[in-house]
Amino acid sequence: MTVEEKLGQLQQLAGAWETGPGGNSTKNAVESAARAGRLGSVLSAFGARSTNALQRIAVEESRLGIPLLFGLDVIHGFWTTFPIPLAQAASFDPGVARTDAEVSAQEARANGVHWTFAPMADVTREPRWGRVAESCGEDPYLTAEFTAAKVAGYQGRDLRAKDRVAACAKHFVAYGGAEGGRDYNTVDVSEARLRNLYLPPFRAALDAGAATVMASFNTVGGVPAHGNAHALTEILKHQWGFDGFVVSDWNGVRELVAHGFAEDDAAAARLALTAGVDMEMVSTTLREHGERLLREGRIDAGRLDDAVARILRLKFTLGLFDDPYADEGAAVAGPVPATRRAARAAAARCMVLLKNERGTLPLRTSVGSIAVVGPFGDSGDLLGTWAVPAAAAKYPSVRVLDAVRRAAPGARVTYARGVATEGGDTRGIRAAVAAARAADVTVVVVGEPPALSGEAAARADIGLPGVQERLIEAVARTGRPFVVVLVNGRPLTVGGWLDSAPAVLEAWHPGVEAGNAIADVLFGKVDPGGRLPVSFPRAVGQIPVHYNHESTGRPYAAGVKYTSGYLDLPPDPQFAFGHGLSYTTFRIGAPRLSRASVPARALHAGDTVEVSATVTNTGAHAGDEVVQLYVHDVAASIARPVRELRGFERVTLAPGATRTVRFRLGARDLGFWTNDPGGVFRLEEGAFDLYVGNSSTATAKRRLTVT
Ligand code: NOJ
Repeated sequence: MTVEEKLGQLQQLAGAWETGPGGNSTKNAVESAARAGRLGSVLSAFGARSTNALQRIAVEESRLGIPLLFGLDVIHGFWTTFPIPLAQAASFDPGVARTDAEVSAQEARANGVHWTFAPMADVTREPRWGRVAESCGEDPYLTAEFTAAKVAGYQGRDLRAKDRVAACAKHFVAYGGAEGGRDYNTVDVSEARLRNLYLPPFRAALDAGAATVMASFNTVGGVPAHGNAHALTEILKHQWGFDGFVVSDWNGVRELVAHGFAEDDAAAARLALTAGVDMEMVSTTLREHGERLLREGRIDAGRLDDAVARILRLKFTLGLFDDPYADEGAAVAGPVPATRRAARAAAARCMVLLKNERGTLPLRTSVGSIAVVGPFGDSGDLLGTWAVPAAAAKYPSVRVLDAVRRAAPGARVTYARGVATEGGDTRGIRAAVAAARAADVTVVVVGEPPALSGEAAARADIGLPGVQERLIEAVARTGRPFVVVLVNGRPLTVGGWLDSAPAVLEAWHPGVEAGNAIADVLFGKVDPGGRLPVSFPRAVGQIPVHYNHESTGRPYAAGVKYTSGYLDLPPDPQFAFGHGLSYTTFRIGAPRLSRASVPARALHAGDTVEVSATVTNTGAHAGDEVVQLYVHDVAASIARPVRELRGFERVTLAPGATRTVRFRLGARDLGFWTNDPGGVFRLEEGAFDLYVGNSSTATAKRRLTVT
């Protein structure tokens, strides 16, 4: 390969629909780069016919005929839009993520896509940050489990298979720590927090075989991730032995200049390649300056070859050298009944019953009349932030109103929008109130439009937008029974209206089968078994508020001054991590340990301690409970979180049924990474409190001593 051809493999250009800083390349520019062997990959082009046409140019008209790699953001579905990743995490069932990934991979690969920019492995404590929608929330353990499941679902066992795509664990690293929740903002992070909080899901992605990793837009301790040799090379490639490739984020290499880290584009190219970026998305600094930098000895020829080898290796693994084309006769053109069924089951499994007084839910299908009110009651815009635009245009979500009508065919079902999703117009509230008065029960569907979450969609106020709260309050004043269904992409501050609402169902952005899945849960066809993967703050001023905060010297005590709290609010969230109700009730027994003490030596050698608890359905309906295990290291050489999730299992139990849930704790679960930049994992002797229950506020505990 000539130097030009090598640099070409490192270049990725945008093929279609997306715009952003750095701009789109014209069709001509992409084609001529492919022809000249100056292009390795294309993002955002899909469709068997159009990708084949471009591929033919690369394979048949370029000197070496190296196939292109087609990448696309297939985040929670290609044609069949699944619930947003945050919702999926709420299922506490990694099988949900795996199914989404399998369906996505099949639909995407059939449409010429080889590679998805997912899963997002970023842990975040920032509900203002729009990308919380694309995350699994605030917990590294839960995020790791879901990330691994997604990678397995996308990639399967053989990437040559025509229903699999390569995964990309993103964004490396600590992107979720953006200060103030503003996208792309600074992240300053200690080594211990980096390794204990942000890195574990990436490690899990790589252990599951993730083919690629994407660098993040933020700085990490002052050094932008795209130029961060410590993160990209020392940790990822050397300590972890990652042999896949690192792709930049959109224009991320050139943005090293804006970061004030590189003087000009040439310096950006040099710094990024040297730090460990292998492929440049959209900006073209390496292609433009690489030859000169190499000639002048400012980039290393070995590093360039290494980057090229990493990229070519994936092309071989995907089988592109043998079969570079998509089968135009086999292209999947949309969701089919089986994938819709999967999306519907997944969406229902993700819903979290936040509150349910006086048995308001489930609704009876025999009810005489139902009013559906609210701006999302008759909306097809419930797909979520990363729906593929072509899918959104062709396959909007099933409307709640239609689904309620189908679920309760004998009922008189009326609809009044009441208010818009945003803005201050309250004139429609009167009609909504009249509808509520005339109905046996009212379903108020409120929330955030998907465009208010996702990338570059930070919000400073995370309450319901517009005057939607006024609508809820007005319906409450009728004194008639009602339920609130929330559709949103982030934790919301649920505010004063919560007290007046007898029942609240968190449905998130449920995807293409939204209405059906919501109706399945409202009418009790599906028991709500989801649990919160993020804390819901009482007020924005509490942020960051998360269950796994570190111990302080003056832990909060209600009413006691000089403890770590606020004068005007308790420091705990409105709804805690792990919270969620069911239509039945459960009793979780006290945790039992297989042994009360264990030598650290034995744990290091692979030994484990079993923690078990029985869970009994004490109610009258079959239902789901999520049994959760939390660990607290009582004293350690650095302050450790007050508790950390170390196990969970979602069980379905018939009324009266009992099951014993078992978890195993090993060195990995009890130790932690220190602040040593070289990466030191330590398991310290001493006491550990182990909590088992149905949320992060569980109180039943046992003590384990590590000797
Ligand atoms: C920018 C986003 O940060 C990233 O997640 C995405 O994969 C790329 N754009 C490509 O669209």
